[in-house]
Amino acid sequence: MPSKNKFYVTTPIYYVTAKPHLGSLYSTLIADVLARWHKLKGEKIFFLTGTDEHGQKVAQAAQQASKDPKAFVDSFIPAYQDAWKTYEIDYTKFIRTTDPAHIMGAQHFVRHLLATGDIYKDSYSGWYCTPCETFITPKEMEKDEVQPLCISCTRTTTKVAEETYFFKLSAYQDKLLKFYADNPNFIMPKERLHEIISFVESGLKDLSISRTTVKWGIPFPDDAEHILYVWIDALSNYITGVGYGNSGDEENFNFWWPADVQVLGKDIIRFHGVYWIAFLMAAGLPLPKQMLVHGWIKVNEQKMSKSLGNVVDPMVLQTTYGVDPVRYYLMRYIPINQDGDFSIESLERAIEKDLANDLGNLLNRMLILAEKNNMYTIRHSVVWEQSAINLRDECLNMLTEVLNHMEDCMFHMALARIWKFIHQVNVYFHENEPWKLAQTNPKLFEQVLSATCHSLRTIGILLSPIMPEKMAALLMSLGVSIDQHKNILQELVQNDWHHTFVLLKTAALFHKPETEKKMEQPEIAEKQKEQEQQTYITIEDLIKVELVVGTIEQCERVEQSDKLLKMQIDLGDKGKRQILAGIRQSYAPEELIGRQGLFVINLKPRKMAGLESQGMMLIAKDATGKTQLMSPAQLVPNGTRLQ
Ligand code: MSP
Repeated sequence: MPSKNKFYVTTPIYYVTAKPHLGSLYSTLIADVLARWHKLKGEKIFFLTGTDEHGQKVAQAAQQASKDPKAFVDSFIPAYQDAWKTYEIDYTKFIRTTDPAHIMGAQHFVRHLLATGDIYKDSYSGWYCTPCETFITPKEMEKDEVQPLCISCTRTTTKVAEETYFFKLSAYQDKLLKFYADNPNFIMPKERLHEIISFVESGLKDLSISRTTVKWGIPFPDDAEHILYVWIDALSNYITGVGYGNSGDEENFNFWWPADVQVLGKDIIRFHGVYWIAFLMAAGLPLPKQMLVHGWIKVNEQKMSKSLGNVVDPMVLQTTYGVDPVRYYLMRYIPINQDGDFSIESLERAIEKDLANDLGNLLNRMLILAEKNNMYTIRHSVVWEQSAINLRDECLNMLTEVLNHMEDCMFHMALARIWKFIHQVNVYFHENEPWKLAQTNPKLFEQVLSATCHSLRTIGILLSPIMPEKMAALLMSLGVSIDQHKNILQELVQNDWHHTFVLLKTAALFHKPETEKKMEQPEIAEKQKEQEQQTYITIEDLIKVELVVGTIEQCERVEQSDKLLKMQIDLGDKGKRQILAGIRQSYAPEELIGRQGLFVINLKPRKMAGLESQGMMLIAKDATGKTQLMSPAQLVPNGTRLQ
């Protein structure tokens, strides 16, 4: 348990050369889940995230976009903040390295290091990888290599020769090794620690911490020719974000620092596990308690990258699948200690099987049965039947294992264990046949519902850091409220099933991805899309599609779906049609009534959520992922065919 009943968690800060992708979401989501988990223990939380805005990589990207670097980075901030808001990322502070308070704090940090005598001026000549913002050390180069490739990203490096300030990293080799030996849990998962140890054991060279050939950065204290090397600037955000170097904020800093967990991807482990720790040692500041290192999300076994055109946009993903299902999928199916492959098929399978069938149906069946029998208040039993006692014991076994997995940050294992229990609850419910007991043995009927409610209560609380919104709905339907100031996990472990539940029937929690709403090609493969676009169709193919202008006369929500709207379309001389579209998250029905749209009217009618759709409405997604209705620029008679 961290001291002071506080929990300070950080994410890496993201380079702002593009909007966030699934990998950025993954790092941030891990920190959010941890923060929410510790909140369940009644701890005070500080969750820091933000953006890394200086350096050569950003400056080059801005130049390519013909923009001033500050205007360039500013243009991406809303995309980050919107994405985090959409994905329920409950951060305490969003730091930008262009914030004046950070600039002041970072300079203060370097001044501090200068004062300890760990910095000296010399010249550097070697190779630099701009995408990784990293100096390539001679031991990372092949012998006699003419132009080395970056060992991390394998891209070509560029030659740099400039005057620079060096940090005496070599002086910290033994101290670092001793620190790792004394703190074997410092890096999680443990396998990653060996990587760091062997890097340090192979010998540390002093590290360049300033640049003169790059101008976009924080001025080096008292030497305007130099700017801070972007990594020392960026790493110091973890302390400046809680007040370091800003007078008046010392108390805040002393309360929160050191961080309890710093989340990062495996590609930046050396910067954090070696350089950052050595800087802090030099400055005499406390060291972070733990680093949680995650693997990479890959798409079709390949790293996501702009050049490969396989970047997944989380904002697009959530419009089809919803936020919590994506959160669940990432935490369950991308194991933190390995690289994991993302695919739409496995996401859909997870939603259909785990969420809709296993969990959603269990809750639904129980609520429907209770309602059918006018049971809205479910009391706990005084004497439990053996099958309920067994279930309660299983609940405790599950809890004990889940708490251990969560403490080890093995989220995928915790979730797999919770699902094993969900299966057990399903079996219990099914085998006890409460629908029969309702007629024959009302007392036992109530007991079966109560045991199911107790199990669902535990499940709902444990899953709330992963799926905050859906689990709030689940708990609400059981009449459960959580006291934020108490250690609810401790209460759960007591496992005394003594609660009364007041049931409230709610809309189904999860929906199976509807065939017609499944993503054809999410933004996964822009390249692939390009190729597809080059597969031409003939004019005969085109005229087969009857595209017609129509006016939306009526529009209403479809109860069984949280995505669909049902519309009556006036198609002039072509009559009227009922058309369904999955645009409920973008439009309220009233907004659409009276508007003209474009419709395919010779598409084979098909059923969606039990209702027939007699055509298809044309839509497009804007840059934020919001659906936009396609309409003629001027009013056109209904029934006009597009040509
Ligand atoms: N700006 C530095 C971090 C400075 S922290 C003081 C940086 N930024 S980044 O935008 O390139 O990466 C930020 C985080 O996103 C890293 O933890 C990285 O591992 C993570 N991811 C980027 N792409 C990823 C995947 N495809 N999969 C999982 N996470 C990956 O490095």
